[in-house]
Amino acid sequence: MAVLGATGYAGVELLRILIRHPRVRITTITSQQYAGKRVSDIYPSLTGQCDLILEAIRIDQIASRSDLTFAALPHETSMEAVAALMERGMRVIDLSADFRLHDPKTYLRWYGVHKAPHLLRDAVYGLTEIRRKEIGKARLVANPGCYPTGAVLGLAPLFVEKMVQGTVLIDAKSGVTGAGRSSAVDLSFSEVNENFKAYNVGVHRHIPEIEQELSRIAKRPVLVLFAPHLVPMNRGILSTMYVELKKILDGERLAKVYKDFYRGDPFIRILPAGSFPQTKEVRGSNDCAIGFRYDPRVKRLVVITAIDNLVKGAAGQAVQNMNLMYGWPETEGLRGTALIP
Ligand SMILES: NC(=O)c1ccc[n+]([C@@H]2O[C@H](COP(=O)([O-])OP(=O)(O)OC[C@H]3O[C@@H](n4cnc5c(N)ncnc54)[C@H](OP(=O)(O)O)[C@@H]3O)[C@@H](O)[C@H]2O)c1
Repeated sequence: MAVLGATGYAGVELLRILIRHPRVRITTITSQQYAGKRVSDIYPSLTGQCDLILEAIRIDQIASRSDLTFAALPHETSMEAVAALMERGMRVIDLSADFRLHDPKTYLRWYGVHKAPHLLRDAVYGLTEIRRKEIGKARLVANPGCYPTGAVLGLAPLFVEKMVQGTVLIDAKSGVTGAGRSSAVDLSFSEVNENFKAYNVGVHRHIPEIEQELSRIAKRPVLVLFAPHLVPMNRGILSTMYVELKKILDGERLAKVYKDFYRGDPFIRILPAGSFPQTKEVRGSNDCAIGFRYDPRVKRLVVITAIDNLVKGAAGQAVQNMNLMYGWPETEGLRGTALIP
């Protein structure tokens, strides 16, 4: 396997998971600024476990050494490498946003001109629990964004059961690694520490992705109001969704909707009535924890999900998808509980 962008937060999380995966051998890892250096010199915790030399991206070399490539590059950088690898017959799991939106016009509106639009139709959106069968047969998987993973997993059962009316409000809080290993001033310690702020309210690039997937699930156009926030922690996303239901359901019947929908899903944890998830209970794990409560006084359902943005929201879900693509047990390399505390 190859990992492009192995020095980024999503890329190094892929290495952390793949080195303990019993069926995987990592053959190539890439970086732009650290090419020629050992990855364990950049991340000493990998010493003895992954001491490969980081390389620049050379498509022919990658294709000759690997069967599948994980691309953990920035959006708009990823698409050219992915297209070149696909031309050489490789399987690719792309963690960027480049292949998540099926319509090139939507991509143009939210990102820019797509340089490989011919691949958009064949790319399978990699939200494992929702698109398991298609992912198993895919050659190109567009791994979901971190916010869309938490939001869509929390809302999917309600849309499948056609229980939702009105606009869903999604109020999500993310740790700082969601923005990558950046040197931006906004993400420096003194800006983030002891601070809690909203950003890109109603205009965040994950909105079209959430709407595309919920519309597909609901079989009708769905719009959402999305308010993301940055919180002073490294990992984790807590998403709180406010939903108007067509019919009033008691807690037990709601729990049954969720439990039936996610029956047998190894990484989805439906919490008991009255319990709500916290980011610490998923940190370092591939779990998505879901809790909810209906408030009859205001006739609204509140659904709350917690994921680790770097695991279920990125590298863990990518490995879950790889397992499906090779017909391996879905949990291979991904078992392990969250870090406590
Ligand atoms: N962070 C998350 O929670 C998360 C969740 C879901 C999806 N994603 C997506 O996953 C991708 C990676 O995210 P990240 O957070 O890991 O970002 P990151 O920390 O900024 O890492 C980006 C990686 O790409 C490499 N890179 C950057 N520009 C490049 C170029 N022009 N040519 C070749 N390599 C280049 C970097 O290499 P060097 O710095 O070593 O040169 C680094 O390894 C992004 O598309 C992101 O949207 C991230």
